[in-house]
Amino acid sequence: MLKIVGYTDRPSVRPGEGLAFKVSCEGGAAEYDAEILRLICGDDSPQGPGFKSDPVAASVNGRYPGRKQRINCGSFGYVERGFVTHDHTGGFTLAVVIQPTWLTKKADQALLACRAVDEPGRPGWSLLLDAAARPVFELSNGHHDYAIHLDLAVPEKRWSLIIVAVAGSSVTISHRLLTPLPKEGAVASMTAPFPFAIPRTRGLPVTIAAELASVEGERLFTTRHYDGKIESPLIRPWIDDPESVGTIDSLFAGCYARWDFSQSIGSQDIVDASGHGRHGRLVNLPTRAVTGHNWKGQTLRWSDRPDLYGAIHFHCDDLHDMQWETDFSWTIPADLKSGVYAARVSCADGGEDFLPFFVLPAKKAPKAPVAFLASTFTFMAYANSHHGYEDALSEVCYGALLELGPAEQFLKERRDFGISLYDRHRDGSGGVYSSWHRPILNTRPKRALWNFNADLHVVDWLTETSQHFDIITDDHIHAEGVELLRDYRCIVTGSHPEYHSTEMLDAFDTYLQNGGRLMYLGGNGFYWRVATHSDLPGVIEVRRGEAGTRCFELPPGERFHSFTGEFGGLWRSNGRAPQTLVGVGFVAEGFDENSHFVRTEQSFDPRAAFIFEGVGRDEKIGDFGVLGGAAGYELDAADPELGTPPHALVLARSVEHSNVFLLTPEEMLAGFPGADAIENPKVRAELVYFETGTDGAVFSTGSITWAASLCHNSYDNNVARITGNVLRRFIDPRPL
Ligand SMILES: [Fe+2]
Repeated sequence: MLKIVGYTDRPSVRPGEGLAFKVSCEGGAAEYDAEILRLICGDDSPQGPGFKSDPVAASVNGRYPGRKQRINCGSFGYVERGFVTHDHTGGFTLAVVIQPTWLTKKADQALLACRAVDEPGRPGWSLLLDAAARPVFELSNGHHDYAIHLDLAVPEKRWSLIIVAVAGSSVTISHRLLTPLPKEGAVASMTAPFPFAIPRTRGLPVTIAAELASVEGERLFTTRHYDGKIESPLIRPWIDDPESVGTIDSLFAGCYARWDFSQSIGSQDIVDASGHGRHGRLVNLPTRAVTGHNWKGQTLRWSDRPDLYGAIHFHCDDLHDMQWETDFSWTIPADLKSGVYAARVSCADGGEDFLPFFVLPAKKAPKAPVAFLASTFTFMAYANSHHGYEDALSEVCYGALLELGPAEQFLKERRDFGISLYDRHRDGSGGVYSSWHRPILNTRPKRALWNFNADLHVVDWLTETSQHFDIITDDHIHAEGVELLRDYRCIVTGSHPEYHSTEMLDAFDTYLQNGGRLMYLGGNGFYWRVATHSDLPGVIEVRRGEAGTRCFELPPGERFHSFTGEFGGLWRSNGRAPQTLVGVGFVAEGFDENSHFVRTEQSFDPRAAFIFEGVGRDEKIGDFGVLGGAAGYELDAADPELGTPPHALVLARSVEHSNVFLLTPEEMLAGFPGADAIENPKVRAELVYFETGTDGAVFSTGSITWAASLCHNSYDNNVARITGNVLRRFIDPRPL
């Protein structure tokens, strides 16, 4: 188990900006040491170059008191002064439309609650589903508790209307199925007296989809989290016949508070449509822009008909910001070189963690000729991913038994560290938001060679070959566009730059049309569309649709981003296939053994002569490397139909992949025998080069494992030679 973990408050900074570090000693250590390191290589595997870093004489290096920091995982709605009845003796009515999605968890799930957390006995009320999925209304006056339950289990994944009418001395609770099956009773209700006066709850907070347990400063701690959709929760004057109410709309008039989730869908606000101004906010990023009870396929885009999107989907494992206390803050010194950095924290019980961050050069500082792109959106998409080791098909896809490292073992236990965009929530629905504001245990050196740690192979090669380079990041390109890119003669990507926003693709397009040069040293790049929100720094949204290699498919009608209204899914499905930008796009993947490339006739074109200087005609390219071969894991190829420019040169193709390498689903309109590499020549990576616009150019390797071959034989090998030849020529300002 991991003994110490932490995170920085944002992924990337410039000199002069501050960065906060948050640490939790999970093993209970009383103190820990922190030191800032510049990271060069994180690959401590037996085949790798070893962990390499440079110490930084930072003012924050030193010993700190340890503590275990609390986490409140699970989303909910919070209305600070939500309960508004003026006359308690007159009673009130609660109503809500629900579609529960995880009833087999057999735990209480609060739908709507109003509780005083600073008084003994927490006086107030809660409407919930109990462990047997029965609607329950609980009332407490701080001394006595009372509960009435309906002797009926609400169904999972179907819509129900629940109404509770509280009079002076009795409660009626009713349940109506909004889409009853033939011969299924639509309505059930029950009335019972209660033995004490309604407690005074005026001015207390109302929570939706959880019950408030305690408040610590700005931090809210909740319990009894609900998994599922909620729509139109409301509080209104008492009605005497809740079982006769057919639709919730008929209760809208005269409400004390009515939260209309079809308003402000793109935000974290919840709007009170009653006119009483009891607006609230969402905590921990429940999923918005999801279909409501009245959606029947009328539109697939929420912004066309927000009234059909009046639901919010809450999950007990939603997580936005762990809100940990800051242990130390550091203002990035003006003279700190741009690079990949980390705070290494360690404690006496053997705990060690690295809190990575990326330092860009100051805006007005002279720039290096090369910028290495740290794929911060991709790192966030994969943050704390469970999929790779919990999916039943993983061992078949890897062609090997699984090995669980310490981070995977920790995350299997600790669901409160949140999920990635590759994971389903505990209720089975797909994750659509991911956040930097938590320890991301797979964005670390010394971990599996995937994304961050694999990308450090490129940083290592640039460093070992004395290349002067800066670091730029996805989040900064997204925010600053081509202004950030145009300072560089050449941009170099990592092994898997998979996730990009519209703003990023626009920036790359403009950069390449205006003489920029791009080295795409990865596979499965520029693949999914990402959305961000200006009010939610460090958060991304991805909506996976009906195409692509994916771990789940979102339901129909829920494939447009809530943050921007844009259609989600593959860039290929949005008219900007990766081939249009970098000449190649995802065609196949396999995770058993990696292979190598062989040159094509086009590699002898005089336009490509500079790329192959020092490389023989018949050399196998990359039949070596930390991951076994330079052609592997995920493979991209050229496709003129999808936008590879006609003048692009396909310089080399990968060969000899196993039957574990298969075509991607988007490459197959129908399943057919012969979709693996043994039988299908389309299962291959292609090395591609082409010129763009006014003297720009692109070089693409089309393989995730290319970067892991750079270090072979002390950086003297044909993968490093080709990459170095291209880099030298791309930073040379002479026309190509
Ligand atoms: Fe990926």
